[in-house]
Amino acid sequence: MFDSILLQLTAVLAVVLIAQQLYHRYLARKWACGDILKVDQDYFGIWQARKLFADRNDGVDLQEQRNRFNRYHTETFRETLIGRELYYTSNLENIKAIVNFQFNDFSIGYRYPAFKPLLGDGIFATEGHKWKVAKEVLRPQFVREQIRDLDHLEVHIKNMAAIINNTHGQVFDIQDLFLRLTLDASTDFLFGESVSSLTKSEYEMGKYTFESAFNKVQKYIFARSILQSLYWTYNPKDFRECLNVIHTFTDTFVQKALSLTPEELDAKSKKNYTFLYELVKITRHRKTVHDHLLNIMLAGRNTTSALISSLMLELARNPECYEKLKKDVFENFGDGSDLSCVTVESMKKCNYLRYCINEALRMYPSVPQNFRCAKTATTLPRGGGPDGQDKIFLKKGQAVFMSFYTLQRSELYYGKDANEFNPDRWATIKNPGAFMPFLSGPRICLGQQFAIAEASYTILRIAQMFPNIKSFETEYPPRISANATMKLRDGVMVSLS
Ligand code: HEM
Ligand SMILES: *[C@@H]1O[C@H](CO)[C@@H](O)[C@H](O)[C@H]1NC(C)=O
Ligand SMILES: *[C@@H]1O[C@H](CO)[C@@H](O)[C@H](O)[C@H]1NC(C)=O
Ligand SMILES: *[C@@H]1O[C@H](CO)[C@@H](O)[C@H](O)[C@H]1NC(C)=O
Ligand SMILES: *[C@@H]1O[C@H](CO)[C@@H](O)[C@H](O)[C@H]1NC(C)=O
Repeated sequence: MFDSILLQLTAVLAVVLIAQQLYHRYLARKWACGDILKVDQDYFGIWQARKLFADRNDGVDLQEQRNRFNRYHTETFRETLIGRELYYTSNLENIKAIVNFQFNDFSIGYRYPAFKPLLGDGIFATEGHKWKVAKEVLRPQFVREQIRDLDHLEVHIKNMAAIINNTHGQVFDIQDLFLRLTLDASTDFLFGESVSSLTKSEYEMGKYTFESAFNKVQKYIFARSILQSLYWTYNPKDFRECLNVIHTFTDTFVQKALSLTPEELDAKSKKNYTFLYELVKITRHRKTVHDHLLNIMLAGRNTTSALISSLMLELARNPECYEKLKKDVFENFGDGSDLSCVTVESMKKCNYLRYCINEALRMYPSVPQNFRCAKTATTLPRGGGPDGQDKIFLKKGQAVFMSFYTLQRSELYYGKDANEFNPDRWATIKNPGAFMPFLSGPRICLGQQFAIAEASYTILRIAQMFPNIKSFETEYPPRISANATMKLRDGVMVSLS
């Protein structure tokens, strides 16, 4: 009796699966799709998963991925990883289709529930209606001039410079300082008060403070997002404790802002731009304000730090570039004794500085890869057939990884020296197509101008204050930890004087 039910169920399941396969094949033919190249064939993808984890541990997974695209002479391929078929693409047309032209065909997968304990209904984690609502509130904030407040940044730059002065020309890890700098600057700009981690000792940093909790919590949410549909199985006590610290901290500021009268708010925002106070003028919904703050915090901190860290790494290795940069900076802004000439506009005119920023973003995109899921059965323009020129078919739920790291180091677009740091190449690039460090399309980074201003200012101030730089890197290309945002695995070891 039981046996026969089981048998029937199995039969039904088999029929459904076969019917589905046939239907997919029918759609693929109808839409004129070609086969997508399958690589590293191994049935359930156990070996491949092991290799991937090993590469990640060694900090070489991005390089390895680029090597794979090159080895197979393809820009799009698929592989099976632990029983699941994944698509990978570094093809410009495919990427544009996913993030822009076919935006509505794709979703951000399980990002929302995985990130929700930290990000709530904020812009970074949501899609559809919730995302549109968040975007409408935030977009006007980011077109304002005041938002790029360099005077405030200078306070934190001075704290950082004091630490660098104290190294007396000895080697140190500047990435660590940049992570603290961007944390201090973000909290200042968002909450109106900085956590000032650059003025604290290691001991104070290690305690359960906002900064340590915020650092730790990202490991948890990232792990949850990797688990996809199983995100909910990972909810350890430490994660909840970190969340508690962060939410209590944030709530204190939100409450304080909500208790101000309109006159007090106006007085506060007359002199300095504080994101929180501007937000409270638009919405007085406590949870909404709270979510926005943490979303911007997450979006802007490690990304900007990754940009300035990788640029410093390359400048230290390429002293002739650092010389050129210093020359450009001194010609435009002098030695730093008068900072009033440094504005967002004047920084844009400092050409070599701009080239350096672009080149770092090209070689080390802070978000080196990104991932989307097909919401319905659909196609992408390239990657099918023997020459990869045909369309490819994606079934509903198909996951696609986009490799910006590979795209932006493609010899097709950047020539033979694509893998080399050469800021001068930007003198002749007019409309960079294969360059999307901030993404493109509806979900394009809102903080792009803000990030470029912050990064440019930091680099130009270092060039003014510390004319001598030396690299102490032992490995090149540097090892990279590529999670949601990238980090230089072994830090950025330099000396500055
Ligand atoms: C070098 C620095 C930065 C890089 C490379 C960068 C890159 C990106 C990328 C690739 C995305 C799209 C992520 C996705 O949805 O899959 C994004 C989104 C976003 N970024 Fe940035 N970002 C940087 C700095 C900042 C800063 C400083 C801020 C704010 C102060 C910011 C605010 C945002 C916001 C609000 C979004 C969400 C936009 C939306 O979903 O509509 N970013 N960023
Ligand atoms: C760093 O040292 C130099 C002189 O050695 C000094 O001019 C500068 O003000 C110092 N900077 C900070 C932030 O302490
Ligand atoms: C951002 O940097 C901090 C400090 O190193 C780290 O603890 C955190 O996990 C990073 N977040 C991501 C998403 O990589
Ligand atoms: C990021 O990835 C590296 C491996 O590449 C891992 O060791 C590290 O713990 C990860 N960090 C986060 C925040 O997930
Ligand atoms: C504005 O910022 C400056 C520099 O951080 C600070 O000294 C001043 O008190 C702030 N003004 C207001 C009204 O908050």
